[in-house]
Amino acid sequence: MVSSADGAVSAGGAGSGGLSTPADRALFRALRRSADCVLVGAGTARDEDYRGVRPRRPGPDGRQPGPPPVVVVTGSAGLDPGARLFTDTVTPPVVLTTTAAPADRRAALAAAGADVVLLDDLSPTTLLTALGRRGHTSVLCEGGPTLLGALVRADVVDELRLTLVPVLVGGPERRIATGPDPLPVPRALRLAGHEAAADGTLLLHYVRATAGIPAAPNG
Ligand SMILES: NC(=O)c1ccc[n+]([C@@H]2O[C@H](COP(=O)([O-])OP(=O)(O)OC[C@H]3O[C@@H](n4cnc5c(N)ncnc54)[C@H](OP(=O)(O)O)[C@@H]3O)[C@@H](O)[C@H]2O)c1
Repeated sequence: MVSSADGAVSAGGAGSGGLSTPADRALFRALRRSADCVLVGAGTARDEDYRGVRPRRPGPDGRQPGPPPVVVVTGSAGLDPGARLFTDTVTPPVVLTTTAAPADRRAALAAAGADVVLLDDLSPTTLLTALGRRGHTSVLCEGGPTLLGALVRADVVDELRLTLVPVLVGGPERRIATGPDPLPVPRALRLAGHEAAADGTLLLHYVRATAGIPAAPNG
């Protein structure tokens, strides 16, 4: 996820692309190379006109694995079957939804090439279990704040790659994870790596620590 220095996830109505920097884009591509799938909320897929992950370069052994699928979570199945998600992709997208979504929309997405998967509900546990059954254990969630907020609330986030961009945005912009309820106890994270780019972008790599908030330093 990319954030301004004052915590905004988008700037100037341009979505996260309005914030991203070259260092962030390089990290974004690298993370995609090692993921089993790219999980995203329908709001982000719509707002950012998502398309499929680009093909990977051949490895040293000459093998060129297919790009991971984009997996979209949507309760409404309200995606445009003519969008780049369906027309500009090597690997067919996966749509995770439920029977509560209108049948004609689900059928239109399947006809557009999506693998439409009907789940009992769209809770994080159900989503991750369904992905695990498909062999997708390394799940890269690219947001947005609603989906990440649900994953945080369910306490299923193992790592956070947070890019801090040296700009101030102000205004009503949202932060990287939002939702109606916070975790009862904040999830503590451990800084596993960090890098500062020449333009002041900070690439932060956090992993889960033990439960609870870190102890305050003495003094
Ligand atoms: N800075 C960053 O790194 C970053 C990253 C990603 C996105 N963004 C920005 O965030 C904005 C979009 O945020 P958002 O919060 O609206 O989008 P989101 O989390 O991508 O998508 C929300 C939508 O996804 C579906 N959904 C997600 N979680 C669900 C759940 N647990 N159960 C049922 N449905 C679920 C619903 O779709 P339906 O409405 O179809 O039912 C919901 O309306 C965009 O402006 C984007 O540019 C920023």
